[in-house]
Amino acid sequence: MILGIETSCDETAAALVTRDGEIRASVVSSQADLHAAYGGVVPEVASRRHLELVNPVIHEALADAGATLDDVEAIAVTTQPGLIGALLVGVSAAKALAWSRRLPLIPVNHLHGHVASLYLKPLDLQPPFTCLLASGGHTMLLDVQTRGGYRVLGTTLDDAAGEAFDKGARLLGLGYPGGKEIDDLAKRGDRTAYDFPVARVPGHDFSFSGLKTALLYAVRGLSPAELEERKADLAASYQHAIVRALVAGRPEAVVGGVAANSELRAALPDAALAPLALCTDNAAMIASAARYVDPLPYPEYLELDARAAA
Ligand code: KG4
Ligand code: ZN
Repeated sequence: MILGIETSCDETAAALVTRDGEIRASVVSSQADLHAAYGGVVPEVASRRHLELVNPVIHEALADAGATLDDVEAIAVTTQPGLIGALLVGVSAAKALAWSRRLPLIPVNHLHGHVASLYLKPLDLQPPFTCLLASGGHTMLLDVQTRGGYRVLGTTLDDAAGEAFDKGARLLGLGYPGGKEIDDLAKRGDRTAYDFPVARVPGHDFSFSGLKTALLYAVRGLSPAELEERKADLAASYQHAIVRALVAGRPEAVVGGVAANSELRAALPDAALAPLALCTDNAAMIASAARYVDPLPYPEYLELDARAAA
């Protein structure tokens, strides 16, 4: 089995995945509550929490799988992109574990990990396909020809889709992370109540900053009582605009935290959708991607570094 470790943002996660893509254990400890008071992830707070959680989470994954480190043939870890301090906790834990057991280490790009959530059983999706990756940090349309990588066809020119959800939720006075909050509230609203714009951008790129501004102006024009009354309509209309932008490229598959959105899933009935539990950050997707990346043999990886950029 491959032991995957993920600490790029505010989820501390470890998972055990077999070579043929079966999940034996997947433990995700979310720090969302810890950051909610600040309305977003505080990098230093995240690093500290990862440090406290990374070993317990790895132990829990091994226990869930009924396994020990003797059953692990390689350690996979997210090395980029993400919060640098958060990434370093996972990379250090992975190096120490791999080194102590003389195991190979497999560096995984978090975005490749999201795509590889589609390669786990039972979905086991085979390329080629076009893939929408929509998360809190990235929004991209990808051309996936092999399981080992992808080509970027388009990307966001400003905010990521998840960021648009989170910032929109904040404008509406909802909690963090905002995607789920807007998704839930939108179910009680009328998506045609407000005509929010979908940015026209060339090619397969995306843009969400204009939409965010449109919501800001709509909210500003309302009294607190009116806002309370129109909140569900605003959420539904705002979500509808984001979803329209996301489905414009007609993706054949969808991954990332925003792939959990119920309207987005309903709008793409024929697409391969990442299973709900694997949309937001997890380590099963990291171990899955690792199956298609060259391992670094012991002890070459001791030099390995984390990188904030993609
Ligand atoms: O993939 P992810 O867990 O982390 C990153 O790699 O960024 O994505 C987190 C993002 C957050 O912005 C969150 O608001 C959004 O995914 N999200 C959703 C939903 N669930 C999570 N957005 C819309 N609808 C949802 N149901
Ligand atoms: Zn992610």
